[in-house]
Amino acid sequence: MRKIDIIVPITEYTYDELSAEDRRLVDMAREATYRSYVPYSHFHVGAAIELDNGEVVCGSNQENVAYPSGTCAERSACFYAGARYPESKFVKIVVAARGTDGEFVSEPVAPCGACRQALLEYEQLAGRPVPVILCGKDSFRMLPSVASTLPLAFTEF
Ligand code: THU
Repeated sequence: MRKIDIIVPITEYTYDELSAEDRRLVDMAREATYRSYVPYSHFHVGAAIELDNGEVVCGSNQENVAYPSGTCAERSACFYAGARYPESKFVKIVVAARGTDGEFVSEPVAPCGACRQALLEYEQLAGRPVPVILCGKDSFRMLPSVASTLPLAFTEF
């Protein structure tokens, strides 16, 4: 018998403790929440993905009356990045959200399982860890990689 513990290192920052570059990405992810289309959940999510070509690609959740046809902010951003800049590698991912009251959520929101899976593949294409920043109202959690958000991921067959 062998016991295996998986530890996910998370560093929490205040806005002022973030680097200027990370603050810019946070601001862009937050701005993207205002471009969500969320008539059903009224939960606004934004994602900003920094690419190694210097571009930052943003996405927001886009819902549909046939609920499963909608998509999360993270997947709209990562698929747009892949479609628009297929040669570019992901550098960093930032996720922000506003609740049904329109305010930024106090507790940082984490990507759903499907988004983690989708993002993981782009991290593998990048060939190096892609840090993820999860934004709360006043606290920002940095994870070292997408892989750290999805332990025991399915990656190949
Ligand atoms: N949502 C995201 O955009 N990203 C997540 O990581 C979690 C959930 C969206 C899906 C749906 O439009 C709304 O938030 C409520 O679940």
